[in-house]
Amino acid sequence: MKVVTVTLNPAIDQTVRMDNLQVNSVNRGQAMQFDAGGKGVNVASYLADYGYETAVTGFLGEENTAVFEKLFSQKKIQDHFIRIPGRTRTNVKIVDEANQQTTDINMPGETPTAAALQTLSDKIEELAQSCDWFALAGNLPPHVPTSIYATLIAQIQQHGKNVVLDSSREALREGILAQPTIIKPNIHELAEITGKEMVEETAVIHAAQQLLSDNTKMIVVSMGKQGALFVTKQQTIKVTPPNVKIKTTVGAGDAMVAGLVAAHIQGLSLAETARLATAFSLVGITHIGAHLPDLNDLQSFAQQVQLKQVHSATLPPAVAK
Ligand SMILES: Nc1ncnc2c1ncn2[C@@H]1O[C@H](COP(=O)(O)OP(=O)(O)OP(=O)(O)O)[C@@H](O)[C@H]1O
Ligand SMILES: [Mg+2]
Repeated sequence: MKVVTVTLNPAIDQTVRMDNLQVNSVNRGQAMQFDAGGKGVNVASYLADYGYETAVTGFLGEENTAVFEKLFSQKKIQDHFIRIPGRTRTNVKIVDEANQQTTDINMPGETPTAAALQTLSDKIEELAQSCDWFALAGNLPPHVPTSIYATLIAQIQQHGKNVVLDSSREALREGILAQPTIIKPNIHELAEITGKEMVEETAVIHAAQQLLSDNTKMIVVSMGKQGALFVTKQQTIKVTPPNVKIKTTVGAGDAMVAGLVAAHIQGLSLAETARLATAFSLVGITHIGAHLPDLNDLQSFAQQVQLKQVHSATLPPAVAK
């Protein structure tokens, strides 16, 4: 069973630690590190730690691949990234512990050429022969057609393989039309694509139900510390996480996507899926970096989450598409 994650716009995460950041003046940094990042890269990193055979693809600038290659070789992740001219973007995060503030500067990324997009399509074709699950995660580089996820999903589904989609705005909206197996919007992304600000839980569930279709079997609406709603045609489960000591909320969603793939590969029930995916997200926020340092943590978090069955009978019927 091989999993592929696709990251079209990865990033090197540069974290600078310094106290009392002052704009418009000279600051002294305390420590700095570079990590391979991007949502699909993070998903792959969690899945490899979990023990799955994992491959990655997407686009990497050929001039600064070292940090990615190091991660992939450490975790035995198969590197199918297409090299494009230039450098992968670097996103800078300034962590000011004294003031408990974090400042992010995110760059747009490099645009792949039409030839590179064709190479990606060929690569997906090749990987879909042998791989069963594909995670398409993150935003798009500038000027890439917003239909790209829809195109890739259709291509993967022609081989009878499964897709989980985690994106936002137009790329998400258009990707949904291609009916990926699972969609994981957070509550804001769901509000954005439906054009509705949702306050009531029933409204969120109703909006999620409308995204279900023949091929789209599950919608997971993540809601930060409120937990998540796991919505299928048959039932809906609300998960409430325990109180945990948070180290970072970066990558909470990526860990959850990894957990969703793991749960599906194991053929878990909706309740067990909800437990495992949430446990992944809790490991994500209680550790720095996209790693599962101890698989026992997953077990213990899975026991601590609270599940509530939301009976679909009490909800308004989903409107047929
Ligand atoms: N503050 C928190 N306390 C407890 N659990 C949390 C917290 N933040 C996130 N989580 C867990 O992580 C899951 C995903 O979080 P969230 O909804 O923030 O995802 P996201 O917005 O997609 O994140 P990302 O920035 O990685 O894309 C939640 O459903 C929950 O299980
Ligand atoms: Mg997210």
